[in-house]
Amino acid sequence: MELFNENNKLAAVIHKDHSLLPVINRLGIKLGFGDRTIRNICEEKMIDLNFFVETINVFHHEAYFPEKRLLDFPVSMVIDYLVKTHQYYIGFLIPENDRLIELFLSGNPEESAENDLVRKFYAKFKEEFVIHINFEERVMFPYILELNSVIENPLTRPNFRQKYPDYSISGFEKEHSAMDDKMDDLKNIIIRYLPPNYDQNWGNAFLSNLFLFEKDLKNHSRIEDHILLPKVKQLEKLLQSHE
Ligand SMILES: [Fe+2]
Ligand SMILES: [Fe+2]
Repeated sequence: MELFNENNKLAAVIHKDHSLLPVINRLGIKLGFGDRTIRNICEEKMIDLNFFVETINVFHHEAYFPEKRLLDFPVSMVIDYLVKTHQYYIGFLIPENDRLIELFLSGNPEESAENDLVRKFYAKFKEEFVIHINFEERVMFPYILELNSVIENPLTRPNFRQKYPDYSISGFEKEHSAMDDKMDDLKNIIIRYLPPNYDQNWGNAFLSNLFLFEKDLKNHSRIEDHILLPKVKQLEKLLQSHE
């Protein structure tokens, strides 16, 4: 496995894997980086170099997971990355899917049972997705950030204990499988069961966007399950040991 490193030119990295574009955007980088290396760019933009390199490697190689090294990063940095990913989904990928699905279905001249079926499965995926994201942003991430700040500032411990008497992430953990299953159902309906009177180009465009979404989402879930949660459990243990 050939990993990216800080001496690679970022342009060469993008030529190798353009699906990293939204990932580098979330990490604070836009196109137009000329011939500069990852190190040059991170120094210029004050981005944590190791976090940048590990995140693009995790995204590029599914089998690569440097859990030990990623556990060293501040929890706020990981959450910031995850929230930016949610914003990318809500602000871009979902509206883009909404647009493409309508273009795709409008190729079928009459409203049909198949159109309704696709809309129904798409609505189910979206519903599950929005519930999941809202829960993380309104309940889980605030808990984690408060836990982190209580460790940095022990004076706030009584307030925290009052608010979260059993403080434990296991009560907040949400599985990613329900969301993944709904995405699979939707893709399967389109790939396996649609009759051929659809606009195939729009069908392909919609499916390509779904595959892109799925890849990004799986990577996002891996970071939550394998980086964020172990890190939170570490913090909870640390807090317990102070009591
Ligand atoms: Fe998330
Ligand atoms: Fe999640």
